[in-house]
Amino acid sequence: MWFKKSSTASKAMGITKKYGRSILILFMFIAIIFMLVRCINQQSEQKPATEEVSAPATFKDYVSSQTCAGCHKTIYDNHTHTAHYLTAQPADEKSIKGSFKKGSNTYSYTPSIMLSMEKRDSGLFQVAFYKGEEKKAMRFDIIIGSGVMGQSFLSWRNNRLYQLPITYFTAADQWSNSPGFPNDRVLIDRLVTSRCLECHTSFAQGISGISMETVEFDRNNIIYGVDCQKCHGPAAKHVEYQTEHPQDKTPKYIINPSKLTRIQQLDICALCHGGNIQKTKPSFEFTAGKDLSHYFVVDTSSGNIVQNSANIDVHGNQYALLRASKCFKVSSTMTCNTCHNTHENERGKKELFSHRCMTCHDPAANSFKTPTHSSLVAVESNCIDCHMPSQPSKSIAVFLQGQETPKTSSLRSHFIGIYPEETKNHLNKTR
Ligand code: HEC
Ligand code: HEC
Ligand code: HEC
Ligand code: HEC
Ligand code: HEC
Ligand code: HEC
Ligand code: HEC
Repeated sequence: MWFKKSSTASKAMGITKKYGRSILILFMFIAIIFMLVRCINQQSEQKPATEEVSAPATFKDYVSSQTCAGCHKTIYDNHTHTAHYLTAQPADEKSIKGSFKKGSNTYSYTPSIMLSMEKRDSGLFQVAFYKGEEKKAMRFDIIIGSGVMGQSFLSWRNNRLYQLPITYFTAADQWSNSPGFPNDRVLIDRLVTSRCLECHTSFAQGISGISMETVEFDRNNIIYGVDCQKCHGPAAKHVEYQTEHPQDKTPKYIINPSKLTRIQQLDICALCHGGNIQKTKPSFEFTAGKDLSHYFVVDTSSGNIVQNSANIDVHGNQYALLRASKCFKVSSTMTCNTCHNTHENERGKKELFSHRCMTCHDPAANSFKTPTHSSLVAVESNCIDCHMPSQPSKSIAVFLQGQETPKTSSLRSHFIGIYPEETKNHLNKTR
């Protein structure tokens, strides 16, 4: 609590200079009432590090995540290998996964419309041709996507960002047309808004005033990727304090999600893994430790979605699927962090994940000895393929050159349950 009080006071001091004492008293009065109400509401819960009264963070409240390496080196080093860290970066030949080599650098829409990926003196470009004549060259400026499934690309025009028509599709190791783009012509004006950047960067400073859906950005004030501060809150003040007080080993001005309530922990992930939620405040105003429901219309019930889980896409809505699962509903503690250590790249480590299932499901217990489990030799090495099978996404669908039906990506379903068909497949594979 002291943390909230002291930072509220320092904000109030700035106000005093400008507007005098009465505003300060009023402000403190409101702050005290606010804190009392919150304390009453949350008596039985863990201490929230929320700071709802503060102004929205701006670029100066953030630092480069490299700064954290000075004192948290192992976490920083591991984190640079994660899909989160790599999900947005300035484009260069090394980080773009698609090929610029002749023979594999083109995409034909129709016999007369073609696009080619080219390396020129001034950078890397997607160049549109009509009947062999160059029509438009668009620069690769920003990469979106670590490349687990694919990479999309953004291009600056003045202070606006446009999504490029061609995406790299990992499963086919090919250039493809971008998801949702037409299959028979080159679309060059798909404007990128702050919501796209809110899920793929940690902060992007808008320059078109306070608007719900900013479309103009300061290109020098972007924190690429899902970095430390997306889950720990803007950290400039933490760095400043700990640097000035090296002898003080108590952390200040920083959020540790494990000290938040269950909902606040889930909110951090649900900002981006909670489906297509509708915002009620401008992008980037929600930061870790706040209540997502104050910024978006979110449904935190775990009611009757079970019957409809088939309608929830496996892409980008792990939260809704998990919430519909019996594990989540019956357990009172499960969050995303029960199974995920997001500081590390743990992709594909099925045995590690299975061990996390076993923190609640004891294979030695009698209830575990079901007919299927008893028939397995190494049941403990992989719970995942039977209970969280990979399923095709309905929304990530791209057209490969010359194909009439789109190709989809598959993702793990977070609707943890019993899947007879996948069980059969798994048994066939392992026998
Ligand atoms: C000058 C050193 C220093 C720098 C730079 C620094 N920290 Fe810390 N941090 C500390 C110390 C000291 C602690 C408390 C001891 C510990 O947990 O290691 C701490 C603790 C933390 C905690 C745990 C908080 C808690 O309540 O348990 C988090 C999270 C954290 N830091 C995040 C960051 C992030 C993110 C950055 C970069 C933006 C960063 N730190 C940069 C010194 C630093
Ligand atoms: C700012 C948005 C954002 C937040 C907040 C966020 N994620 Fe993500 N997450 C993403 C994006 C985007 C990807 C896809 C990265 C890629 O491959 O380009 C991703 C990927 C992942 C992956 C897959 C990693 C892999 O190796 O493929 C896991 C697991 C994950 N997130 C878990 C979490 C958890 C748990 C939280 C909360 C503690 C969280 N995420 C918070 C945006 C976010
Ligand atoms: C609501 C948050 C959200 C928004 C908005 C969003 N994404 Fe994503 N995106 C994700 C998450 C989460 C993933 C990881 C896959 C998953 O969980 O389905 C992802 C995955 C991707 C991937 C595949 C990454 C990989 O390495 O496999 C690409 C490419 C991508 N997004 C591009 C975009 C672009 C371009 C925009 C905006 C025009 C956008 N996304 C808007 C959340 C979002
Ligand atoms: C996707 C969310 C996410 C990102 C990104 C992230 N963290 Fe964390 N971090 C967490 C969560 C969740 C915990 C609490 C884990 C627990 O103890 O349950 C945590 C705990 C910590 C702690 C305290 C516990 C410990 O392990 O020492 C430190 C310090 C920390 N993070 C630093 C960092 C730094 C530095 C970065 C960037 C290099 C970073 N984190 C990136 C989610 C994240
Ligand atoms: C935090 C504890 C916890 C973790 C971790 C956990 N579960 Fe559960 N799970 C539960 C609880 C509680 C139930 C409900 C049991 C009951 O009904 O008595 C459950 C139920 C289930 C069921 C039955 C589902 C149904 O619809 O009948 C399956 C299957 C299952 N879990 C698999 C898994 C797998 C696989 C993992 C790891 C990926 C996992 N669980 C991780 C707590 C957990
Ligand atoms: C009961 C354990 C469990 C919980 C809880 C859990 N996950 Fe997962 N998650 C997994 C497993 C297992 C995988 C597959 C990992 C792999 O194969 O690399 C996975 C994969 C993912 C992926 C990558 C999907 C793909 O197929 O590319 C994302 C994103 C993700 N989880 C996000 C989340 C978010 C967000 C939450 C909380 C809402 C969450 N997870 C909660 C077990 C869990
Ligand atoms: C070959 C596929 C397969 C594997 C591997 C597997 N399960 Fe299951 N599991 C099933 C099936 C099918 C059922 C339904 C009962 C049956 O047919 O035996 C089930 C039932 C369950 C249940 C509900 C039990 C009950 O009381 O109704 C839980 C919990 C569970 N599994 C957890 C796990 C965990 C944890 C692991 C890994 C340690 C695991 N399972 C590995 C297929 C599998």
